Amino acid sequence: MTTPNDPFLTPEPAAREFSGQSSPADRDYIREKYNSNSSRRKWIILGSVVGVIAVIAIGVGVGVGVSHHSSSNRASGSGSKSPGTNTSVVPQTNPNDPSTFVKDSRLHQSFYGLAYTPVGSIPPNCNSTLSDVIEDIQLMSQLTTRLRLYGSDCNQSALVLEAIKQTKVNMTVWLGDYNLPNDNGTEYNQQKQAIVSVINTYGVDHISGVDVGNEFMLNYLDANGATDPNSAVGNQGAQILISNIQDMNKTLVAMNLPKHLPVGTSDAGAYFNTLVLEAIEFGMANDHPWFANVSIDQAAGWTWQFFEQTNVQPAAALSNHPTMYIAETGWPSASKDQGSLSNGPSIASVPNLQTFLDTFVCQANKNGTAYFYFEAFDETWKDITYGGVEGHWGLFNADKTLKNITIPSC
Ligand SMILES: *[C@@H]1O[C@H](CO)[C@@H](O)[C@H](O)[C@H]1NC(C)=O
Ligand SMILES: *[C@@H]1O[C@H](CO)[C@@H](O)[C@H](O)[C@H]1NC(C)=O
Ligand SMILES: *[C@@H]1O[C@H](CO)[C@@H](O)[C@H](O)[C@H]1NC(C)=O
Ligand SMILES: *[C@@H]1O[C@H](CO)[C@@H](O)[C@H](O)[C@H]1NC(C)=O
Ligand SMILES: *[C@@H]1O[C@H](CO)[C@@H](O)[C@H](O)[C@H]1NC(C)=O
Ligand SMILES: *[C@@H]1O[C@H](CO)[C@@H](O)[C@H](O)[C@H]1NC(C)=O
Ligand SMILES: *[C@@H]1O[C@H](CO)[C@@H](O)[C@H](O)[C@H]1NC(C)=O
Ligand SMILES: *[C@@H]1O[C@H](CO)[C@@H](O)[C@H](O)[C@H]1NC(C)=O
Ligand SMILES: *[C@@H]1O[C@H](CO)[C@@H](O)[C@H](O)[C@H]1NC(C)=O
Repeated sequence: MTTPNDPFLTPEPAAREFSGQSSPADRDYIREKYNSNSSRRKWIILGSVVGVIAVIAIGVGVGVGVSHHSSSNRASGSGSKSPGTNTSVVPQTNPNDPSTFVKDSRLHQSFYGLAYTPVGSIPPNCNSTLSDVIEDIQLMSQLTTRLRLYGSDCNQSALVLEAIKQTKVNMTVWLGDYNLPNDNGTEYNQQKQAIVSVINTYGVDHISGVDVGNEFMLNYLDANGATDPNSAVGNQGAQILISNIQDMNKTLVAMNLPKHLPVGTSDAGAYFNTLVLEAIEFGMANDHPWFANVSIDQAAGWTWQFFEQTNVQPAAALSNHPTMYIAETGWPSASKDQGSLSNGPSIASVPNLQTFLDTFVCQANKNGTAYFYFEAFDETWKDITYGGVEGHWGLFNADKTLKNITIPSC
């Protein structure tokens, strides 16, 4: 949350008054503990939905985020095909050449970027397949030229870069290292090795940079009973995150790459610690109007304003000027249960998804807002595990068919 002590965040006194007031009832932190094959004990923080105070009168809100790691079937049955299968979802004129996919005239390359996690990329259930990822890339490349991943577990970075290679699409990727605060760097180091390995295999042509951490600060604060990213607890978490960020940068710099890969982090919009901001080259913020209880007619404007005030302006005030992106924004089209269909005035529906697309996408492109739309595909496992709107943020249904929407053309 923002604090009165931080001159860079929410200068309006009225907004300060509301800071730190997210209701526990709005917070739904989900952690999954599991043992990997090597008996390593790990914690993966799978998701969080953080409540928000939107101070509509002065257009200032206090943050939100949802984290996303998908672990199971999105498109049932699609994972077992061999590469190049002529599927009904994405036909290929040459079934053995993924670059010959037939374009869908309903899709337009209108999105700045998309947030993406391949199905089956959370250990210990690492069963993403190249054919499935190729199909995703074939579809997503018709919507954008930029993707961001959340982590590098389960060979996902290699699968995505291989799929880009085979489909020959114009696509660059922000790789991720989904580090954890309490595993003595195990997860961080393992994913760092995966990142180094894909750079060695695929080069840097299709890599934009490396994101260390997904909602690290939000999760650290919650795990330690705090809410203010600039509190003493926040600064403790920041030190862990910063040491990983600096180590990643040192590793990449030592590789003498043909181009510099910037290193940064992604977090819930209102959870950027100032020390972290000072240590990154870019920051990616989850800014979700739906979780901010904003009605659909105000959603696009809220997103832009929240991002400007909570992320862009604070970053611009620092001497290192980290480049800020919207890591996730979007609108759900449905809910598993009727009770979660609305969040205050926010209502999940296909027409509202259409309205968000119509009011946000081309306008944000035009005014230079760099965003990763959340998200390409509905996630079945989230619908099963979490219910509510969690599994329903896709432009496509889980089976990769387009929802009843018109993709903006701009
Ligand atoms: C991947 O693993 C999940 C969880 O064990 C399972 O439900 C799913 O069927 C598997 N998918 C494939 C393609 O093997
Ligand atoms: C693959 O799909 C395309 C488009 O539907 C079709 O024209 C083509 O004949 C199919 N190829 C094979 C080998 O089935
Ligand atoms: C590829 O996409 C980038 C934007 O990400 C664009 O600047 C570039 O012109 C595109 N290249 C081609 C060959 O279309
Ligand atoms: C990771 O994916 C790449 C690209 O498909 C493949 O070449 C490689 O064998 C995979 N590695 C593992 C360990 O599965
Ligand atoms: C943490 O990792 C370091 C090496 O990275 C190791 O020297 C140290 O023993 C580890 N500590 C614990 C408690 O496992
Ligand atoms: C990474 O190192 C380069 C070269 O020293 C520096 O310019 C850049 O700011 C560093 N990035 C981070 C995130 O530390
Ligand atoms: C930028 O685009 C958003 C729509 O996504 C809009 O709400 C906002 O007013 C625009 N800002 C400017 C300065 O045009
Ligand atoms: C958002 O709306 C829900 C449902 O009406 C409500 O429970 C929650 O308190 C609201 N949150 C905020 C921050 O206004
Ligand atoms: C699709 O949406 C349009 C409105 O945009 C509506 O008229 C039509 O009935 C919808 N079709 C289905 C199958 O829901």
